[in-house]
Amino acid sequence: MGPAQETRAPEVTLDEIVALCKRRGFIFPSSEIYGGIGSTYDYGHYGVLLRNNVKGEWWRAIIGERDDIVALDSAILQHPRVWEASGHLEGFTDPLVDCRTCGLRFRADKLEDAQCGRKPSMHPGEFKECDLTDAREFNLMFETHVGPVKDTASTAYLRPETAQGIFINFKNVLQFARKKPPFGIAQIGKSFRNEITTGNFIFRTREFEQMEMEYFVPPAEAPKWYSYWMDERMRWYTDLGIRDDNLKLRAHGADELSHYSSATSDVEYLFPMGWSELEGIANRGDFDLKQHAKFSGEKLEYFDQEKGEAYVPHVIEPAAGVDRAMLAFMVDAYDTEEVEGRKRTLLRLHPRLAPVKAAVLPLVSKDGMPERAREIYQEVRARVPAEYDEGGSIGKRYRRQDEIGTPWGITVDGQTMEDGTVTLRDRDTLAQERVPAEELGDRLAAKLAEPWRSPKLG
Ligand code: GAP
Repeated sequence: MGPAQETRAPEVTLDEIVALCKRRGFIFPSSEIYGGIGSTYDYGHYGVLLRNNVKGEWWRAIIGERDDIVALDSAILQHPRVWEASGHLEGFTDPLVDCRTCGLRFRADKLEDAQCGRKPSMHPGEFKECDLTDAREFNLMFETHVGPVKDTASTAYLRPETAQGIFINFKNVLQFARKKPPFGIAQIGKSFRNEITTGNFIFRTREFEQMEMEYFVPPAEAPKWYSYWMDERMRWYTDLGIRDDNLKLRAHGADELSHYSSATSDVEYLFPMGWSELEGIANRGDFDLKQHAKFSGEKLEYFDQEKGEAYVPHVIEPAAGVDRAMLAFMVDAYDTEEVEGRKRTLLRLHPRLAPVKAAVLPLVSKDGMPERAREIYQEVRARVPAEYDEGGSIGKRYRRQDEIGTPWGITVDGQTMEDGTVTLRDRDTLAQERVPAEELGDRLAAKLAEPWRSPKLG
């Protein structure tokens, strides 16, 4: 489905997000010095930090705050039979048409979103200049070869989802973790899809990272847990500052359901290009475990000691994208305002997501301020991720920190040298207070632990 139309004007355009990401070193187009490679991005310093925080918050919610889920990190390359059993070899396809005129390829089911190569304007619903072939199915998996001989016996695939790595380890995990359903196995890792329709920055790329969890439950409890995980996952986004109005759950129609799913709902976010999928929550039934049991010959079931019977658990799967979540957090946090006649651009990120929590800035580079600021920086960074910034005017340095979303600025000035206090500046309100330098660590660690809501909510 293409992005749904929304009557509300977007608060920020994708171009503005792309420009900020480039300007502040979050994300760069990959292989840029060679002209780029489509839909592939490299993450710079602040991008890596933000991305790690997104993943850290997911691990916190999925593992850190509960006892019923364990972690896994499975290999990207798996036995080719995995993809036969999962149905990906047969069914992970998009219908594709070629244009005999402009030479481009389009998804047959997304022609209304496509752009003709000959006439570079949108043609909603009509391809006057295009001469399209019949649709044929195109498998999205990247094929590669294991070992030096390029023959069919050594064909392997870069995993198109992290989920199958979990199913094929069900038996291993069950033995070591000594869990009984309901219990989950979670992993974060790269996945690869040879997407035909890309674009929209890091929303849809060919190499991306997923945060997936398979929650194994007694079959009769599947509907209950499906509903539980929809609520939990919506709450994760709102607790991290995404505004309710920009988030919704959309149940898939029967024609949209994947081959393995009996029910799926998408968490959708109002991206600048319209409502689009952020995360999928699926009731996968017993499809995957049964398929892998059939193809591997291994028993993949749980033996219930109390009842004296074995059964194949059903699976509820919340499947999120790291890159998409990161984009949504940036879009929701992006803001501009005028302060004393000057435009200020900032990311009002949840402090736990912000790449840097505190910036320590000497007011000027003299009178002992840089030395004192460095000492304070060493103390602060032992408690929260911090940055020391000495170059340029103080206004310029604050603008830089605002754009990377740093929630707290600490200025070391003349008064610091006299009474040991510093200025603590709040990114969102711009309020400034004087705080004894030795209290900063405790103050900032406490602020970081507080619940937070987007200041855009007023
Ligand atoms: N195991 C189920 C599964 O993979 P999916 O809806 O295809 O389901 C789950 O993917 C999530 O992974 C999506 O909601 C999205 O956040 C992310 N994702 C999928 N394809 C992506 C792509 N090409 N680029 C970026 N993120 C993607």
